[in-house]
Amino acid sequence: MAETAELNLPGGQSISLPIFEGTEHEKAFDIGKLRDATGYVTLDSGYKNTGATKSAITFLDGEEGILRYRGYPIEQLAEKSSFLEVAYLLIYGKLPTETELKDFSGHITKHTLVHEDIRKIFDGFPSATHPMAILSSLTCVLTGFYPDSLNPNQSTEEIDLTIVRLLAKMSTIAAWTYKNSVGHPLNYPRNDLDYCANFLYMMFSFPTEKYEVNPVIVSALNKLLILHADHEQNCSTSTVRLVGSANASLYGSVSAGINALWGPLHGGANQEVIEMLEAIERDGGDTSKFIAKAKDKNDPFRLMGFGHRVYKNFDPRAKIIKVAADEVLKALGLQDSPLLKIAQELEQAALTDQYFIDRKLYPNVDFYSGIIYKALGIPTEMFTVMFALGRLPGWIAQWKEMRENKEPIGRPRQIYVGETERDYVGIGERA
Ligand code: SDX
Repeated sequence: MAETAELNLPGGQSISLPIFEGTEHEKAFDIGKLRDATGYVTLDSGYKNTGATKSAITFLDGEEGILRYRGYPIEQLAEKSSFLEVAYLLIYGKLPTETELKDFSGHITKHTLVHEDIRKIFDGFPSATHPMAILSSLTCVLTGFYPDSLNPNQSTEEIDLTIVRLLAKMSTIAAWTYKNSVGHPLNYPRNDLDYCANFLYMMFSFPTEKYEVNPVIVSALNKLLILHADHEQNCSTSTVRLVGSANASLYGSVSAGINALWGPLHGGANQEVIEMLEAIERDGGDTSKFIAKAKDKNDPFRLMGFGHRVYKNFDPRAKIIKVAADEVLKALGLQDSPLLKIAQELEQAALTDQYFIDRKLYPNVDFYSGIIYKALGIPTEMFTVMFALGRLPGWIAQWKEMRENKEPIGRPRQIYVGETERDYVGIGERA
């Protein structure tokens, strides 16, 4: 017999709420019948205490700093897996066999080429357009090249092709967005390179010279993309699920998720972290001044890359990325990076400061990732695009799960606090 919680309301009314327990023993009151039975709704600004769904994709424990994709610890996947293998795991729920991975990777390779008309669309963007605006626009416009993808109820085979096309083409679009922004010739994808090597080739090669893929950079990029691949019901993933719940297409839902991720409080934080570190460097490297600003309630400045809605302990991804940052910078001879030194000083100062300790503010996934992206030669404005590239399999998996579970259209309630009924006043009688 499922446990219940008794809710006693004013006037002697009460209701028994069934308690749902997940596989990791998290518990929730099921309030599905609350309003019909009592007329009450719940209020929870920012959904800090509200579970929007039951999901089997990612488990995280913010107090213990645990993150697992389909049960596999992030530490093991970051060490042993590849981005496309993790993408398969998230989307299809299991680690692929060798044949399954070969077919999946092969299909993606074959679909990295984009329609020539995509090149023409680039010419229409103002030169100052942020790469995230281009990425969300072109992701949505894929529905124009593949109109069948507009039907979210495609057959399994058709959905699989729609998924492969998005995973493949977003990497090309992302690389072309960068090349277009610096006026370099666009590079066509190569079928002899794997996903990460191909992306780096499209980002950094020139027709005038032979591009040598650096295995250290390929390995670091694989790790970064794995670490960003999913994170349960974060802001952008919740956006993808909400938009998809209206029967919007996968491409349209992901395009909305890209715009949510762009927000500086969410995925846009990795760009903000580097800009903050560069501002500290320009200001002479005095981290204490910026710690004081972050603590000052009258100053809107926040220590970007610090704090998290769920993690009230170290973000396990930040720990892995911090080690990787040291390794990559050493391997590239950049171990004396002033930004890395400032980041390390800032982290130490914050972790020993009572304001941060009291609020359980620790470095999150964005704090060190920008330092690696910068070392890999990726420009700051492209950092959130890199986050989107990593998060894409998670968005796809979550959209697919929501569709397969036939979840209803998302439509939260509210409590109205505006004017009560009043009569119209003619324009001549208004104050
Ligand atoms: C991501 O949800 C996810 O899973 C997201 C993500 C993912 O993988 O999808 O992990 C990716 O978005 C990581 C977060 C990146 N954002 C940043 O680094 C921006 C800086 N951090 C914050 O703005 C903030 O910590 C949030 C947005 C991340 C979380 O905000 P919450 O949970 O709404 O907490 P809050 O804003 O209510 O803050 C609680 C207190 C406040 O102080 P008091 O009013 O209690 O005195 O902590 C303070 C805040 O002022 N605070 C900070 C701070 N973060 C919170 N003070 C200074 N610097 C900060 N970074």
